Amino acid sequence: MGYHGGTELASVYQDALAGEFGLIASNVAEPNTLIGLIEGAARVDSDLLLQMSNGACTFAGNGDPIAGLQAMGNYIELIADQYDIGVFLNMDHQTDLDTIQRQVELDIPSSIMIDASHEEFEENVTRSKRVVEMIDSAGADILVEAELGTIKGVEDEIVAEEAFYTDPEKAVEFIDRTGCDLLAISVGTQHGVAKGADLELRPDLAGEIRTALRDHGLDTPLVLHGASGIQSEQLQRMIEHGICKINKDTRYQYEYTRTAYDLYRNNDESIVPPEGAGGDRKSFFNDVEWSPNKDYFDPRVAGRQIRNRIGEVYGELAHTSGSAGQSRYV
Ligand code: 13P
Ligand code: ZN
Repeated sequence: MGYHGGTELASVYQDALAGEFGLIASNVAEPNTLIGLIEGAARVDSDLLLQMSNGACTFAGNGDPIAGLQAMGNYIELIADQYDIGVFLNMDHQTDLDTIQRQVELDIPSSIMIDASHEEFEENVTRSKRVVEMIDSAGADILVEAELGTIKGVEDEIVAEEAFYTDPEKAVEFIDRTGCDLLAISVGTQHGVAKGADLELRPDLAGEIRTALRDHGLDTPLVLHGASGIQSEQLQRMIEHGICKINKDTRYQYEYTRTAYDLYRNNDESIVPPEGAGGDRKSFFNDVEWSPNKDYFDPRVAGRQIRNRIGEVYGELAHTSGSAGQSRYV
């Protein structure tokens, strides 16, 4: 139970590979999404992998990504202690080695993703290997995810105009030379708002990469980024072909805002005065009959609905990916 490091997370991935299920890696930037996810995962007995990008850490830390990691790391650890499931934290799409060094020194994350996929192959190898060495020499209990190929779209501070699918032989060489624990591959998904029907998905390529790695004695879990748009059957096909970490961010962002929007729109007469009523906010609309209603504008009202909706969405995803009922700790 509670919050765990890399060794435990590696065991979860081994279970996932053996049992052919996937872990939905869920991005967070603030506490409502985080609590919704933990609650949702606990309801379906799934272990939970959270992740934070550099932008999310910077947001949570009021401009300071390391403060954001410390604050959210504490928050996650304390809330995770309330539940029986295992909770983990990945640092998503990290590009700056100095920031990674600080994350390693703090030893907060369960895993770190170094994203040097925009660099040439050799430079990608060099940077990814540096992160593995950093963690080894610090003796930290942190796994390393790296990326080979290019995933189209926009994810936080990462932008790619075009997709480059991952080459299986290069993937083997990459893992062999870097010693990374997980490999993010490009097989047709897209970061951001994407419709599954429009994507040129290549689960067969994921399978080829998995087989090529296995033929070289490497049992590396494969990671699917940009998974918000893909449909249940598409997701299951990817898992059958060796994907065992599935990244979702955009889906939760939409659910968050849509939930608040629906609440406020359906109760707008409790939040904004009727057109032409006059009065101002400073005086709490002293001069007019109308008053706002705290039952709707207290942010905790929307917050609770957001947590609940995010929990429901996570539960559905955990059933689709097969992690529901598979917690190592329950
Ligand atoms: P989406 O925003 O498309 O869900 O992608 C998430 C992701 O890949 C995080 O690394
Ligand atoms: Zn991503």
